Amino acid sequence: MKTEPTDTKKDDSLLYHPPKSIMRKANIKEYEQAYAKSIADREGYWAGEAKKLKWFRKWKEVLDDSNKPFYKWFTGGKINIVANAIDRHLETHRRNKLAMIWEGEPGDVKTMSYHALNREVSKFANVLKSMGVKKGEIVTIYMPQIPELPIAMLACAKIGAMHSVVYGGFSVEALAGRISDAHSRVLVTADGGWRRGKITDLKAIANEAMDRSPTIEVCITVKRTGQEVHMENDRDFWYSDLMALPIASPSCETEVTDAEDPLFILFTSGTTGKPKGLVHTHGGYTVYTSTTLRNVFDIKDEDRWWCAADPGWITGHSYLVYGPLINGATIVMYEGAPNHPYPNRWWSMIEKYGVSILYTSPTAIRGLMRFGEQWPKRHDLSSLRLLGSVGEPINPEAWRWYHEVIGRGECPIMDTWWQTETGGMMIAPLPITPLKPGSATKPQFGIEVGVVDENGEDVKAGEEGKLVIKGPWPGMARTIYGDADRYAETYWKEYEEQGWYKAGDSARIDEDGYIWIIGRIDDVIKVSGYRLGTAEVESALVSHPAVSEAAAIALPHEVKGNAIHTYVILKNGLVGDKKLEEELRKHVSDEMGPIARPETVAFLESLPKTRSGKIMRRVLKARAMGVDEGDLSTLED
Ligand code: WT7
Repeated sequence: MKTEPTDTKKDDSLLYHPPKSIMRKANIKEYEQAYAKSIADREGYWAGEAKKLKWFRKWKEVLDDSNKPFYKWFTGGKINIVANAIDRHLETHRRNKLAMIWEGEPGDVKTMSYHALNREVSKFANVLKSMGVKKGEIVTIYMPQIPELPIAMLACAKIGAMHSVVYGGFSVEALAGRISDAHSRVLVTADGGWRRGKITDLKAIANEAMDRSPTIEVCITVKRTGQEVHMENDRDFWYSDLMALPIASPSCETEVTDAEDPLFILFTSGTTGKPKGLVHTHGGYTVYTSTTLRNVFDIKDEDRWWCAADPGWITGHSYLVYGPLINGATIVMYEGAPNHPYPNRWWSMIEKYGVSILYTSPTAIRGLMRFGEQWPKRHDLSSLRLLGSVGEPINPEAWRWYHEVIGRGECPIMDTWWQTETGGMMIAPLPITPLKPGSATKPQFGIEVGVVDENGEDVKAGEEGKLVIKGPWPGMARTIYGDADRYAETYWKEYEEQGWYKAGDSARIDEDGYIWIIGRIDDVIKVSGYRLGTAEVESALVSHPAVSEAAAIALPHEVKGNAIHTYVILKNGLVGDKKLEEELRKHVSDEMGPIARPETVAFLESLPKTRSGKIMRRVLKARAMGVDEGDLSTLED
């Protein structure tokens, strides 16, 4: 049960220097001085980066901090992210450059130039308009990884509507809750998608979710699999039918939005309660995602950029869709599983499309590593120049495999730390940074990071403390949708005096100033890099008629990084057995989606609690791992 990624020992003194060829070509040649300068004059730095973009009207103020912690960036400025991600490229050589190369799991391929992408986005924007979608309204998108997903996102942004993308692996319950929270009137989905050779039932799930959240008036469905699905009269439309109507004209003005106008909401798990919808804006997010991508991944016109994350997560929003398109790159996108039909699928795609940068997660690397190096060895991966990692700390063993087997020992690995809340990469190397396997290295320009104690004092080098960001940055989430108090409370309350953002992670900084992320300090679990709240798993369990109380913890797992283990107290008179255990695991999966499926369900008579009634998850964890239970003085009995 307790399989831990082997060789997790982190060695502070190990340094990997980037090859000369990478250093020579790097967009940024020097870090220390440029960083110091960016911190000394943050607003100056961000204004300089913002100037590289297309604005309809220049901003008046770079940062408005008159109502902390509700910071505003580039106030008075008019911009639209789509004007930057598409429109401005149409006037350059990029018009006929590939914006997207997409491969479906069954092997079908679609490519699209910036010109073609603009047509599709404009057509769908007009379709949305014809359905009465207005500026500021939230359209929910629930789709597999197909081109229509980024097209739908961009179409919303183009007309000033917001999108709320719900990951295609989420369940009825999760989708229904997110639709209701967003009061969405329009849902964009697909009849299904391909995953491991099977068809997923997206539309059936969407139908059930719509039954539970009555706000939806219009549902637009992309025909991906051709499977039989139920379509409701007056509510359901086929995407292809609408796109063939005269209303779907390929010309559509891009809405002039305010820098601070919301671009999207994206739900993520927190410590308590329901997932929260974080709000990102047109101005700051455009500046932040494009700048960080250019700096960290050295993106160039000739690059083929593959961010293997699903657009349903922030990584997909910032670095599959928006960041690379703003930089005019060619994005590679893949619908299905990395090991379908064989574990060489990714490597064959890298060879086939000449991918130059691959950005993925430690869990994906560990998963592919298991199949052995004979799979990548069959392919010519020499097009790769840089590699990236995100989502959780990368263990040195996976790092070395990625570096040696995938990157021929020549591709630096950009280990990037950031969050849904931060909008873009915060702590990450540049291609010129000497690397230490397992460390996300140093802060990005304009970002000041601290590792501090309760009082906000810096802890000593090498000691563990709380990770804070000292001051605002353009890519930061502006609020939690519909709950500004919770936003202020969760992120800015603890270090209110200093004006710092609390990340929720613990970390240490070594003698050389390298930052090592240790993990979450709150009740958030990272499973395969996905973020889940123990509270959500527990409430899913308690919603089962047999369960009276539940606790969820994370234990180390060889591939997933962490896996969920749960403990339940059954209602009076009920006895737990294998069958019930299986039923409860399935129940959580049905409620939340397969990623939340617990590894184990154990039946207990009581749960360790504090005298005030809080479940002591750390005690459960210590017991499961067979280590010291620590201070038990607050334990109830
Ligand atoms: C949490 C945020 C940002 C995209 C994906 C995750 C963990 C993220 C790293 C990294 C160590 C990392 C943190 C963070 N995390 N990247 N490179 N090294 N930990 O976004 O789902 O909002 O999760 O992921 O614990 O707080 P998210």
